[in-house]
Amino acid sequence: GKGNFPHFMLKEIYEQPTVIGDTLATVLNPASQTVTLPPLPIDFATVPRITISACGTASYAGYVAKYWLEGLARIPVEVDIASEFRYRGAPLPEGGLAIFVSQSGETADTLEALRFCKREGQHILSIVNVPESTIARESDAVILTKAGPEIGVASTKAFTTQLTVFASIAIAAARARGTIDHKREAELASALSEVPGRAAEVLKHDEHIAEIAQTIAKARDVFYMGRGSSFPIAMEGALKLKEISYIHAEGYAAGEMKHGPIALIEDEVPIIMIAPSDALFEKTASNVQEMISRGGKVIFLSDAKGIARMKKQAVPFACIELPAVDPVVAPILYSIPVQLLAYHTAVIKGTDVDQPRNLAKSVTVE
Ligand code: M6R
Repeated sequence: GKGNFPHFMLKEIYEQPTVIGDTLATVLNPASQTVTLPPLPIDFATVPRITISACGTASYAGYVAKYWLEGLARIPVEVDIASEFRYRGAPLPEGGLAIFVSQSGETADTLEALRFCKREGQHILSIVNVPESTIARESDAVILTKAGPEIGVASTKAFTTQLTVFASIAIAAARARGTIDHKREAELASALSEVPGRAAEVLKHDEHIAEIAQTIAKARDVFYMGRGSSFPIAMEGALKLKEISYIHAEGYAAGEMKHGPIALIEDEVPIIMIAPSDALFEKTASNVQEMISRGGKVIFLSDAKGIARMKKQAVPFACIELPAVDPVVAPILYSIPVQLLAYHTAVIKGTDVDQPRNLAKSVTVE
């Protein structure tokens, strides 16, 4: 049941500290501060390329993973939505690894993409939430997200646990590849192990986010922006808002705005900026300045240091302060405020949050 929560979606958002912890418990060794994955069909030290395929929210987990796997482990990664990938006849390298991500494990396009890769001789790893699902059964290896049943059509806890699994894979791959040393692995393992506690801190901003949602609920169009691994979180935020509040939203790479979409920025347009203090922060801050000078209402998501730095340049409409964390784990935490923002906006609009129109929890038709 929903317990004390008005909707499954809100309950599932609040379960994230617990289920991220449950997922980490299967892959993290706290004593040695290392990642220990179940036996996999490939050796990360020699794998020529990783191909990731999924739909919707699960595909955004794949896009974050690309930044992690390429950045930390220096393995070339290709990510594509399953409904395109499966028909494209993509050339795949001998001995390649194909990873499929799915909460339900039954999504038709993802399953067919898997079968295509199998025929092409790829090693198949899936990240699924339902252990007895078809995708799990047809894979060479499975890493389970321990999210528990997800009832709300809008995926929340499945996404952050998918990210948790991918972060662990990236760390293990980087170790195998020799691209991080033991000290960095221990740092990353400890940053990951702190995510459940940090996620609980993020949830404390719920009321503030509900206030900001009053502004979002009045908008016709909303932009979400970020750079690097924050870019897929921007796309995920926009998807969440679209599917449950029915407000048009777009997720953009912040640096791409000046190549066209900035023409849409005028007075009162809300822009959600995903801006953790990381190597790209200054670039993002200068994009924020551009948005503010065109009248955009920037809702700025960052840590205390980032917010202070931003305010020296231009003052956003609202700021949501997240805990300062290693930039590698930031995407997991920054998912939570965008989920809450979509949730509260939908509640204000009076939509059917758990079962939005035209959507099914599991898309088993092509
Ligand atoms: O069960 P799956 O993870 O394979 O589902 C994929 C998408 O249908 C799903 O993530 C969809 O985009 C969600 N409704 C987004 O909240």
